Amino acid sequence: MTHVLVTGGAGYIGSHACKALRAAGYIPVAYDNLSTGWADAVKFGPLERGDLTDRARLDRVFETYRPRAILHFAALNLGTGTGFSVREVIDQSAAVTNRPVPVIEGPRRAGDCTRLVSGSTRAEAELDWRPARSTLAQMIGDAWRWHQTGHYHE
Ligand SMILES: NC(=O)c1ccc[n+]([C@@H]2O[C@H](COP(=O)([O-])OP(=O)(O)OC[C@H]3O[C@@H](n4cnc5c(N)ncnc54)[C@H](O)[C@@H]3O)[C@@H](O)[C@H]2O)c1
Repeated sequence: MTHVLVTGGAGYIGSHACKALRAAGYIPVAYDNLSTGWADAVKFGPLERGDLTDRARLDRVFETYRPRAILHFAALNLGTGTGFSVREVIDQSAAVTNRPVPVIEGPRRAGDCTRLVSGSTRAEAELDWRPARSTLAQMIGDAWRWHQTGHYHE
């Protein structure tokens, strides 16, 4: 069977990508240094523990599995440090697209959080990266303009 290398395969997005790859008939090889990931989350193929900066280790992994493709999820989870409510996202989406957004309102469920915030302080400290174009209007506006190009369906 064909191997696909998944960097960050022990993380949140990477482990789900591994599950989808396995269902699609590939063997996902998770390459992860486990800095924020979990060995237990690697269930659909082998775990190769290593760091992205370790070229020799990567060479050995390439040599062993000869992966057909690489999916890269070993990255910082970036955010703007500002949380938005679902209501704010709905209202801004309607405003940017000039279309009503169909909504079914229901009571809050147990465990629903009131605000979910991704920070970017680590990226600022390590990479000198700062979020730009991070207002809701900018983010939704950029996505909306891109969707209108038609590339999404290509
Ligand atoms: N979580 C989300 O909802 C979401 C949504 C869209 C995009 N993303 C993007 O997907 C990427 C992964 O996000 P996530 O939520 O899965 O984060 P995560 O922290 O759960 O996963 C990242 C994985 O990469 C590994 N890793 C980090 N640095 C490494 C290195 N130098 N060498 C090897 N492995 C390393 C970590 O151990 C971890 O398992 C990020 O770039 C994030 O911005 C996340």
